[in-house]
Amino acid sequence: MEANLSLVPAIIDKYKAQKKALIAILQEIQETYNYLPEEALRLVSKKLGIPLIDVVSVATFYRAFSLKPKGRHQITVCLGTACHVRGGPKVLEEFERKLGIKAGETTPDKKFTLETVNCLGCCAIGPVVVADGNYHAHMTIRKVSRILKPLSKRE
Ligand code: FES
Repeated sequence: MEANLSLVPAIIDKYKAQKKALIAILQEIQETYNYLPEEALRLVSKKLGIPLIDVVSVATFYRAFSLKPKGRHQITVCLGTACHVRGGPKVLEEFERKLGIKAGETTPDKKFTLETVNCLGCCAIGPVVVADGNYHAHMTIRKVSRILKPLSKRE
């Protein structure tokens, strides 16, 4: 489904369509829509006078940006070496099984996006999972439901 992009022009105007505000504008669009819709990037390119290819390369360079729609809840499983040897892959498999999606995918109801990362910089407490910005240490398969249940109830 195409996103309703009616809020994009106001975001661009807020920054007076200045070229130097490109990242701030993309950040705000990402926060508003949970991803960067292609049409929004075209509009940003046109209004800021920056070639679309340059807008897209900024959008793909930063991990915080996504060109695909994301779920309302983000689950990130660390698969860096330390987390890997402590059972990270099994934890990931359990999330995949419970959500019915693979890493890198979003559930059809757009509720959850499941991703992996290579080290979050806190290896001592691995395996680590980040759910909506909250860090969960020493993850086990049994803790997966405990993370998903409260999030499933929330919108
Ligand atoms: S390997 Fe997972 S936090 Fe470093």
